[in-house]
Amino acid sequence: MPDAIVLLKNDHKTVEKLFKQYEGLGEKAYKSKRKVVDQIIAELSTHAAIEEQHFYPAVREAAEDIEDDVLEGLEEHHIVKWTLSELEDLAPDAERFDAKVKVLIESVRHHVEEEEGEMFPKVREALGRSTLKTIGDTMEKAKAISPKRPHPKAPDTPEKGNLIAGPTAAATDAAKAAVKKAVRRS
Ligand SMILES: [Fe+2]
Ligand SMILES: [Fe+2]
Repeated sequence: MPDAIVLLKNDHKTVEKLFKQYEGLGEKAYKSKRKVVDQIIAELSTHAAIEEQHFYPAVREAAEDIEDDVLEGLEEHHIVKWTLSELEDLAPDAERFDAKVKVLIESVRHHVEEEEGEMFPKVREALGRSTLKTIGDTMEKAKAISPKRPHPKAPDTPEKGNLIAGPTAAATDAAKAAVKKAVRRS
């Protein structure tokens, strides 16, 4: 069973690697830019979803003093998801593309710093090892059925039937991705 915090930190590392990759690309490497940004979109969409559906709610329930960190986290996710949804449809040679990715990277780095530097240490103390392992296990399983695309307008807390929203969105995402791939190929 993976520890929830270890799992989330590993996700952060994966995303940071992609950011570095993007930053190393040449100005006109449009194909690679598209590829890396698509990977960033998928990784961050899934990561945000498992935090919102499983990690943040457990944190809020277990420790009221971490509530403010969670609320701030949700707002930061919200902004990131909007930017991701814009990047999905923006051509990598568009005038605004690089700037948008740059701002995205800055916001995610800031968010990760707050999670790892402030929220996670408090959570580790409040929840303890075995609870963190249980949440980690749930999140690992949830990854497979979580959305691969950003849904900034979808509910970001697991209230009222939102438990089925995840898998449904994931299925729609898979279908849309297939269509997009086919369109790009033609
Ligand atoms: Fe987060
Ligand atoms: Fe995170």
